Amino acid sequence: MSDAPLLDNQPFLFDPADFPPLDNLPVEPGIPTIDSPVWTDNKAHFIMRYLRYFVFITKHGTYIDGFAGPQSESMTDCWAAKLVLESEPRWMRHFHLCDKKRSQVALLERIKATQPLTDSSGGKIPRDINIYGGDFNRKVEEILNSGSITEKEATFCLLDQRTFECHWSTVERLARYKALGHKIEIFYFLANGWLERAFAAQRDFDVRALWWGRDDWRELDKMSREERRDALVHRFKKDLGYQSVKAWPIFERENGGAVMYYMIHATDHPEAPKLMSRAYRKTVKPLEPIEQLKLELGLEPT
Ligand SMILES: C[S@@+](CC[C@H](N)C(=O)[O-])C[C@H]1O[C@@H](n2cnc3c(N)ncnc32)[C@H](O)[C@@H]1O
Repeated sequence: MSDAPLLDNQPFLFDPADFPPLDNLPVEPGIPTIDSPVWTDNKAHFIMRYLRYFVFITKHGTYIDGFAGPQSESMTDCWAAKLVLESEPRWMRHFHLCDKKRSQVALLERIKATQPLTDSSGGKIPRDINIYGGDFNRKVEEILNSGSITEKEATFCLLDQRTFECHWSTVERLARYKALGHKIEIFYFLANGWLERAFAAQRDFDVRALWWGRDDWRELDKMSREERRDALVHRFKKDLGYQSVKAWPIFERENGGAVMYYMIHATDHPEAPKLMSRAYRKTVKPLEPIEQLKLELGLEPT
C-alpha cells in the first residue's frame, strides 16, 4: 500500500520555511536593518568609511582597486581610491590601483604625487602606491604576485565596474589567492538599475559570458533583479567559500528611488559584517573622532 494519499492529507507539523537549506553554507551573521539609504554619490564614501573602521582593528592592510579611475573625471571629491588614500590614520600600507583608460591612469598618478611622505610628527609613512595601466583582468596576476599579499596581510579589493568589465575568472583568482588565511575581502559592484538595458544592448555574447563566467549566462535575461543578486551572493558563498556575503543596496538618490547597484561584500572576518553595517549607517555622517571610534569599536583608548 502506498503512503501517498495519507501524506497528501496530512497537515505540515512544521513550516518548511523554518528550515535552512541543506547546503551547509555558513549562517549569515545578523545585523541591524537598514533605515537610511546610501546613494550613488556616496558609494565611494561608504567604502572608505568601512576601510577606516577596519584598519583600526588590523593596523595595516593592502588595498587593491581594479577599476580605480574616478567615476567622473571632473568630480574627484567622491572617488574611492582618493578617499582611501587620504583616510586617517594612514595605516593602509600597500596600494595597487589599476585602470584601463590612459586619462584615468594620469589622474591616479597625479593623486599619488600629492600624497604626503611623512606624518604630522615628521615620521615616514610606511606605504607604497602602485599604479597599473591596463585591463585589470590581466593585471590581477601581476598585482597578486607583487609580494605584499601574504597569508596574514589583511587585503581588500574594490571591483567597482560599470557593468560587465570584471570577468568572473578575475573574482575567482582573487578569492582563491590565499591558501590559509582569511580570503581577500571583495567589494563587488553589481549593476542593477540598467542591467536589462545593458543586456539588450550588449550583442557581444563573449562579454556577457566572461562577466558571468558560467554556461547559464543566457538565463540571465529571464531572471528577476532579485534572483540575479541572490544568485551572485550564493556563488560567492558556495563556489568561493566566503563566510559572509551580503548585498548592500546603493540607491539612485538621497531619498531612495531605484537600486542602481548592489555592493556585494564577501568576507571571512567575523567582525566585518558589523563594521560594514556601521559604515552603511554612518556613510553621510561626519567622521567620528578617533578616540570616540576606538571606544565604540571596543578598542583600547590611547
Ligand atoms: C565606475 S568607474 C570607477 C569609479 C571609482 N571607483 C570611483 O570611486 O569613482 C570604472 C573605471 O573602470 C575603468 N575600466 C573599465 N574597464 C576596465 C578594465 N577592464 N580594467 C581596468 N579598468 C577598467 C574605467 O576607465 C573607469 O575609470
